[in-house]
Amino acid sequence: MAQLIDGKRISQEIKDELKVEVQKLKEQGKEICLAVVQVGSDPASTVYVRNKKKACAYVGIESRAYELPEETTEEELVNLIKELNQDETVNGILVQLPLPGQIDEDKIIRTISPDKDVDGFHPVSVGRLWIGEKGFLSCTPAGIIQLLKRSGIGIEGKNCVIVGRSNIVGKPMAALILRENGTVTVTHSRTKDLAAVTSQADILIAAIGKARFVTAEYVKEGAVVIDVGMNRDDQNRLCGDVDFESVEPKVSAITPVPGGVGPMTIAMLMDNCVETVRC
Ligand code: GUN
Repeated sequence: MAQLIDGKRISQEIKDELKVEVQKLKEQGKEICLAVVQVGSDPASTVYVRNKKKACAYVGIESRAYELPEETTEEELVNLIKELNQDETVNGILVQLPLPGQIDEDKIIRTISPDKDVDGFHPVSVGRLWIGEKGFLSCTPAGIIQLLKRSGIGIEGKNCVIVGRSNIVGKPMAALILRENGTVTVTHSRTKDLAAVTSQADILIAAIGKARFVTAEYVKEGAVVIDVGMNRDDQNRLCGDVDFESVEPKVSAITPVPGGVGPMTIAMLMDNCVETVRC
């Protein structure tokens, strides 16, 4: 039986540690405030935003909600972010993605001050990560590193294969694995003979966005499998990028969906918020 990597438990552990740290910071007169901006009312975004506000309340961080109508213009959103950049009572700014079509997401990400970029999406944060400077880490990949470390799984010297090259997961994941002295391969939709590459992995990270794509022939016996996927199958059931049923018997450890990587993203967002006042 594979070890189940319990993201729910580990994220709770991190939030509990942060709650203690935030209390100590409050005693030193340091308060933390996160501005949470949502444009429109996409149901999935509404759930994410609600969970982020809930986590803030739990840890002891103030969340200030900005709920803007679907038809908000790019200029209006840029102006709000500029105000929040200047507002000394706001430590972090989170703009929930995706944004409506009339707004250029890259422009919005670049407008957020790198000092308040708790999502770690700004090019300055990305650059800092790649050159090994301190800075805000992209939350999902940072959460995966914590999942591995806190489950007693070493990264140093391991052959790590990532499937998917997005700016939010695949690419920052590669940088973080390098920082932990892992050997990293990033694969994608144009990779030739994908299964031959992924079956070399000691640690396989699936961030593709295709329901149950990774089946047993993609994994090596005894590998560790991290599933970043959050999909709906034909019967509208929540499932990951990994075909859990066929892969689990073959591997040494695996994350479930839900309850694996998902809860870690918000825990690491909270960590980035605390990072804004750590010195
Ligand atoms: N939409 C889906 N995931 C995320 C995330 O991590 N941050 C933001 N801002 N939007 C998202």
